[in-house]
Amino acid sequence: MLSHPYYETALTAAKRAGEILRKYFRKKVSIQAKSAVDFVSQADLESESSLVESIKSIYPSHLFLAEESHRDRFDADDLWIIDPLDGTSNFLHGIPQFAVSVAYARGGISELGVVYNPISEEWFVAEQNKGAWYSLGQPSADSDMTRLQVAKDPSLSDTMVAVGFYYDRDKIMEATLRSIGDFFRQNIHGIRRFGAAALDLAQLARGDYGVFMEYKLHPWDHAAGGLIVSEAGGKLTDCLGEPLTLNGATSILATNTILHGAALEIAKRNLVSATK
Ligand code: IPD
Ligand code: CA
Ligand code: CA
Repeated sequence: MLSHPYYETALTAAKRAGEILRKYFRKKVSIQAKSAVDFVSQADLESESSLVESIKSIYPSHLFLAEESHRDRFDADDLWIIDPLDGTSNFLHGIPQFAVSVAYARGGISELGVVYNPISEEWFVAEQNKGAWYSLGQPSADSDMTRLQVAKDPSLSDTMVAVGFYYDRDKIMEATLRSIGDFFRQNIHGIRRFGAAALDLAQLARGDYGVFMEYKLHPWDHAAGGLIVSEAGGKLTDCLGEPLTLNGATSILATNTILHGAALEIAKRNLVSATK
């Protein structure tokens, strides 16, 4: 199974952060607005400090790309890419679909990824070239983990599609809505918008659906989930079909590989016409 030297550190850090999120969930938390629809709460901030401290206390020289506080270079060595609370809107509305996302990367490539939902106790983990795994309850040496494998859905008419909307309510939102229409016209089983990109990716890796797309995500949203998808046999590009990188904001298309071409046609067409 997983043997990465920082695996245990990542699990322990994520677990502690999850305890913080659980403590605040469905309680009154103080909130600051980044924009009219993008919020950061006391829970995000405390979870992030805890993650950074857990890692720094063992590896003081390591670097961080963390949503609320750290902007070290995406291609640094010993870089931890952290979203302390992915799914903030769900969290603030008392909806239990949110996660802690922790990745360890070297030279712009994720080597280790952990996505943890502290309410459902679902853990999704992956290591480069070692596969992706799932467990209910914290993974341990002797815990029963299931290997993740993307769905085998052969065509869009056999699959479910998940999407995300960035906080932007402008052209990107319109393009997402057009893509949803185009997917429906291909007779997909349905559209899901769960509201936490790291979990969207992890669930795609589990085979819950065959396609996930979003027109704007940040490295902390996909650094861990993206590795989980590729280690489960899925494919990731941006929505123009270019390789996905950890270098700044990007669009994202993740699929079970088989559906990549068909989904890309839709995702690309609407992105290109929105940005003309
Ligand atoms: C957001 C969630 C959401 C996605 C947004 C992200 P946050 O992250 O992943 O599903 O649609 O684009 O920014 O703000 O909850 O960490
Ligand atoms: Ca996020
Ligand atoms: Ca976040």
